Amino acid sequence: MNSNKLIVIAQSLLASGKGLLAMDESNSSCNKRFEEYGVPQTQEARRSYRELILTTKDLENFISGFILCDETIHQSATDGTPFVKLIAEKGILAGIKVDAGAKDMAAHPGEKITEGLDGLRDRLAEYFQIGARFAKWRAVITIGDNIPSKGCIEANADALARYAALCQEAGLVPIIEPEVLMQGNHTLERCFDVTQEVLRTVFSHLNTQRVLLEGIILKPNMVLSAKDCPTKDGIDDVADATLSCLLRTVPAAVPGIAFLSGGQSFKLASARLNEMNLKSKLPWALTFSYSRAIQLPALEIWKGEEANKLAAQKALYHRAKCNSAARYGKYNDAMEAEI
Ligand code: 13P
Repeated sequence: MNSNKLIVIAQSLLASGKGLLAMDESNSSCNKRFEEYGVPQTQEARRSYRELILTTKDLENFISGFILCDETIHQSATDGTPFVKLIAEKGILAGIKVDAGAKDMAAHPGEKITEGLDGLRDRLAEYFQIGARFAKWRAVITIGDNIPSKGCIEANADALARYAALCQEAGLVPIIEPEVLMQGNHTLERCFDVTQEVLRTVFSHLNTQRVLLEGIILKPNMVLSAKDCPTKDGIDDVADATLSCLLRTVPAAVPGIAFLSGGQSFKLASARLNEMNLKSKLPWALTFSYSRAIQLPALEIWKGEEANKLAAQKALYHRAKCNSAARYGKYNDAMEAEI
């Protein structure tokens, strides 16, 4: 393992004013989203949509890494340029989602375990060869009556840690994503308790598996109340609870934290990240690794029509710019009027 190379990759993903754009939806998730917006659910539509994202002009000012799925990393632009080459030419790093999805967990009704460790060493070597320099693995934790269980948290944390060790061996920076879901009606306080337990367990397993903390990026949920919780959180509430939870659980050796958006509105995802970056003296860089909160406005405009491509790219650029500003604590409502 070359620690210095991993540290350089992690630092470049966390470069000032930049964040990650997650565009690694599985074919079925991507199709589901396409269906909602009236886009045909074909391989060519997915390729064309990913080309729209990757060719958005000047996105490299705000985006340091694209997270791709297996289908996309092998695809090319209309002019034949492989996507990986196109990304490298913009000075952006290519990442790859390597988990095989969250599956029902045996003996744990209502809970999921993320699969994909079998054969992972060989797949990572192949992705490195193609040009990927970082990877992603997402674990899913559901809050409900009597869940999450210890068994689910431990098993997912162990898988994340074993994935991370294999990534570092292969020269890829692991993005470690333990997502506590927003589904349900739980309170912010319950989300805090569960996120705290999950992160403590994840870092304990990372330690057991000898993962180099300086060569990872954590991708957590923000601490907030569930979608159907009657209490609505203030921007400050989320920022304070999230930071307090992270300060208790994430070692200062970790270079950066890149949040998932998890179903928050795109404006709240920017505003809450902004608020956290206004607080001083954080031990890690705080950035974004959003999928829905960056992509959805663009997808809604595109609708699969070539004629809408430029307007969709403009919307994508705008969200990336807003989130970049949030890294400096400089995002505000007025920015939303710029588009
Ligand atoms: P969202 O930002 O839409 O939550 O997606 C982030 C992600 O990469 C999920 O794995």
